[in-house]
Amino acid sequence: MNRLLKRISNSHLALPRRSAHTIQASELRLKKYGDVETSLELNTYELKLNKLSENQVLVRLVAAPINPADINIIQGKYASLPSELPAVIGNEGLFEVLDVNENNVRGLKRGDWLLPARLGWGAWRTHSIEKCDSFYKIPNTLNKHASVTLMVNPMTAYRMLRDNGELKTHETIIQNGANSGVGQAVIQMARSMNLNVVNIVRRRESAAAQNELVAYLRSLGAEHIYTEEELRKPALTHDLWKQIARPRLAFNCVGGKQTTDMIRLLDNEATLVTYGGMSRLPLTLNTADFIFKNLKCVGFWLTRWKLQNADKVPATIAALCDLIEQGTLRPPKCEEFSIGDYQSAFKRAQAPFVNAKVLLTC
Ligand SMILES: NC(=O)c1ccc[n+]([C@@H]2O[C@H](COP(=O)([O-])OP(=O)(O)OC[C@H]3O[C@@H](n4cnc5c(N)ncnc54)[C@H](OP(=O)(O)O)[C@@H]3O)[C@@H](O)[C@H]2O)c1
Repeated sequence: MNRLLKRISNSHLALPRRSAHTIQASELRLKKYGDVETSLELNTYELKLNKLSENQVLVRLVAAPINPADINIIQGKYASLPSELPAVIGNEGLFEVLDVNENNVRGLKRGDWLLPARLGWGAWRTHSIEKCDSFYKIPNTLNKHASVTLMVNPMTAYRMLRDNGELKTHETIIQNGANSGVGQAVIQMARSMNLNVVNIVRRRESAAAQNELVAYLRSLGAEHIYTEEELRKPALTHDLWKQIARPRLAFNCVGGKQTTDMIRLLDNEATLVTYGGMSRLPLTLNTADFIFKNLKCVGFWLTRWKLQNADKVPATIAALCDLIEQGTLRPPKCEEFSIGDYQSAFKRAQAPFVNAKVLLTC
């Protein structure tokens, strides 16, 4: 253990050390369901550093995003909630190995990068001692922010693009919430699959902000970017369908009227996949479209997919790591906040038109 503490104090992984046998750790706990401002508490405690067994690893947080689903959990409005409170929450995060038994069962070593494997294990914690097999290992040479944000949004995009029938080159998909984390991953993956993507975004208050958003999405490879209002103009869509095929797959992040409008643009036999409900408004399908185009409307929930396809998760992570390594998948813009400054982080994460993922760090 002395060897461990010496290494810790000598490295960039140095920790606030209280005694020879403890480190100061923090975790963000949900104490009751309700407003984000009043429902969370930061618990700082002394983590005991006992000798690690062969199936134990001491990990330190690199960063953990605040995703919309986390906000829904805090509000008590999510499909899967902690079994009891208080509970450490946070749906995804990247951790690095601070120490591990040299004979450990997974061949882990200090500095390795790990993604939590257990659904519902709260990632908003600075340190933890866990079982080695509670994590997926990914290369620690990948882009940091891409790795931090890999497990939820890119995985959702990847599965939605692969599990809704075979998409042929130059077919078209359409999505709203195109600048969301999922939307950005869809743009990049679809481009690498030679698909056309019609991207719908909310109009910004100023032309400069709108141009900035469009330029950013173009930098990811987006070609067709429209506001909700623009896509209601028949002349525009009439011209658009002369350039590219009508969409046969749609991804709905938003719900409400925007989605009703999007459905009108779909081709016969198209599929609408709803994965988000950012507007908090119900989904209304145009009856005639539904009948005469024979639309298929399905939902996608990554949690369910992971539970039903546990054997496919490692291969999906590997595929996403490859996309990151090739430079095909870039991370969203990220803003880092120390976990101790979580109030500011949550304020930022809930502000509209931010276009950046808020991350909690040590
Ligand atoms: N089903 C699943 O398994 C699954 C997996 C991942 C994510 N999701 C869901 O997907 C959605 C997006 O998640 P994310 O992490 O990608 O989001 P994000 O990066 O935080 O982006 C949020 C997106 O929602 C848009 N938005 C916010 N409020 C809106 C409103 N009132 N009307 C229209 N658009 C609005 C934002 O547009 P502005 O920039 O214009 O504000 C932005 O495009 C969330 O609902 C999340 O829960 C579901």
